[in-house]
Amino acid sequence: MILEKNVLTAKDLVKRYEVGDNVVMALDGIDLNVQPGEYLAIMGPSGSGKTTLLDVLSCVLRPSTGKVYIHNQLVSGMNDEELARIRGKTIGFVFQSFNLIGRLTAKENVMLPLWFQGIPKKERETIAIEMLKNVGLEKRMHHKPNELSGGQKQRVAIARALAVNPEIIVADEPTGNLDSESGEKILEIIQELNQNQKKTIIMVTHERYVAEHAKRIIYLKDGKIIKEEKKPEKRTKNAF
Ligand SMILES: Nc1ncnc2c1ncn2[C@@H]1O[C@H](COP(=O)(O)OP(=O)(O)OP(=O)(O)O)[C@@H](O)[C@H]1O
Ligand SMILES: [Mg+2]
Repeated sequence: MILEKNVLTAKDLVKRYEVGDNVVMALDGIDLNVQPGEYLAIMGPSGSGKTTLLDVLSCVLRPSTGKVYIHNQLVSGMNDEELARIRGKTIGFVFQSFNLIGRLTAKENVMLPLWFQGIPKKERETIAIEMLKNVGLEKRMHHKPNELSGGQKQRVAIARALAVNPEIIVADEPTGNLDSESGEKILEIIQELNQNQKKTIIMVTHERYVAEHAKRIIYLKDGKIIKEEKKPEKRTKNAF
């Protein structure tokens, strides 16, 4: 029997923030398995620990205790350099506030993560143009972020996240700063990445209709998973 492998595994994650005498339990014992090609949404009220969980899963933050594995490799114990290397090639990030670099053009923003991976300039350019074409922005590649609409900025951010061909895309409120039409377009792109390119998606949102795009929703409250919902698999025509 072939065992299905998790792309991400979290075991008993705890994240404590200590501010003065105050201790905040941002994560309080999270266990989570994410399978390759999953589309997972993390929901919960403000302050419930969604961003902290995403940051710990994607190795941006270290847990206080507990373990994170990427493909059965324990990453929570790695040093910063190893962690940055694994993160850089495995995970693409999309943020609510886009996090583009203002003095770089769209193309240069998309080229940047490829530079960190040591890819030569010609290849960086070819890939960046290809990625921008995929999100319908080839005509905007020489624009700087302040010359783009919110939806266009988020599409550049998605192109940048995809540049290194990561297996996992993590997105923290990717439609949070967008009007509903631009938000819908971003959700379509994310859905396409999951369905056609088989990318694993982990998306944080506090909006139900956004989470509905995912195939599984987990609900956080006070740093704990309090509920999980799975969408039934669509039956194929020949299934009997
Ligand atoms: N750097 C920090 N230092 C101290 N406390 C923090 C820090 N970051 C987050 N917290 C606290 O940890 C808890 C979880 O925060 P987190 O940002 O993960 O929530 P969230 O679910 O993403 O909320 P939102 O929907 O508002 O983005 C909150 O109580 C928050 O105040
Ligand atoms: Mg948050």
